[in-house]
Amino acid sequence: MFETLEPKPADAILKLIAEHRDDPRDNKIDLGVGVYRDADGVTPILNTVKTAEQWLVNNQSSKAYLGCAGDPQFCTAIQNLTFGDGSGQDRRITTLQTPGGSAALRVAAGLILRAAPDVTMWVSDPTWNNHVPLLGGAGVKLQVYPYYDNDQHCIRFDAMLAALGRAAAGDLVLLHGCCHNPTGMDLTVEQWQQLADVLAERGLIPFIDFAYHGFAVDLDADAYPVRLMFERFAEMIVANSCSKNFGLYRDRVGSLSIVGASAESAAIANSQAQNIVRTLYSVPPDHGGAVVARILNDGDLRAKWLVELADMRQRLQSMRKLLVTALRESAPGRDFSHIERANGMFCYLGVSVEQVARLKQDYGIYLADSSRINVCGITQGNVGYLAESIAAVL
Ligand code: LMR
Repeated sequence: MFETLEPKPADAILKLIAEHRDDPRDNKIDLGVGVYRDADGVTPILNTVKTAEQWLVNNQSSKAYLGCAGDPQFCTAIQNLTFGDGSGQDRRITTLQTPGGSAALRVAAGLILRAAPDVTMWVSDPTWNNHVPLLGGAGVKLQVYPYYDNDQHCIRFDAMLAALGRAAAGDLVLLHGCCHNPTGMDLTVEQWQQLADVLAERGLIPFIDFAYHGFAVDLDADAYPVRLMFERFAEMIVANSCSKNFGLYRDRVGSLSIVGASAESAAIANSQAQNIVRTLYSVPPDHGGAVVARILNDGDLRAKWLVELADMRQRLQSMRKLLVTALRESAPGRDFSHIERANGMFCYLGVSVEQVARLKQDYGIYLADSSRINVCGITQGNVGYLAESIAAVL
């Protein structure tokens, strides 16, 4: 049976993990997959996660199934964090715990296909490299809207609005809540408002992928687009991830929030989503969600987590500055200031596929072919070598 199959190439981002690991050079640098790394190049387990895990070891009394929607305490806590305090009680919003943000996207795709099989989902050009395979592979019709200007290193906002102005009523628009992956370029508050106007005029439905909550400015500022759209739209979808802001990558913690026009319609959508979950993975894993629920529901732990989150965010911002300063020295003829204007882990360096290949082969520097870099891979110790290597391939 399997002899009929053709091999598939490894995922373009995930394959960088192994390529970097297997490179014997001491000065190699990993700017690939989107995981946080500290100044020593380590992806730490947050102290608050360790404390919550210890609490679970001491207090969790059962590993029995929780059900397709996961832990209600986790869902309410995430709903409050995303939509604002008190929204956990709003019955127009319904939240399911999912194995990471990816599963939230996949369950949402199933729900969309049941509710409105003919609608198109508009995705940004560019977008996360797994959006199109994941959502399109599930059967959702996709179209792209322009987002990033590779030459000017800014958002093509007018072109974006013009494209969405041609979308049909009922179409969905996939938006990155903050820290756009891969470009790091986010809309301003005014642009979000203008976008909301266009979506409302056209009768489009916002679908926000919110994988980096807390990595741009702070938890409230980053949630602005979600809360704006919630105020203005009868229906919307939010896919949330706790991979980055709680550092729980491999534990697979995320959630899917569905906003319905009424509490009744949200409850029906939730029942459909649970039915989809049952056929995909039956029930979500508990451990990471229980950790997050403990942190968010314990005043002391929550306060300490906010500090850990701010530390991660600030390190990203300072590494951006460091690289731009170093590049000013090494490559004075080129303007790399856009690196500082981007949010979160990523931005485009702005070099060609061939230059990316040379960085890998000649200098042991790993980044996506698009020239997306994860700025977490930068340290005080390697920034000089990195900037010189970039200058050498220009
Ligand atoms: C990334 O974009 O690097 C992360 O979201 C990790 C992944 O799964 O691709």
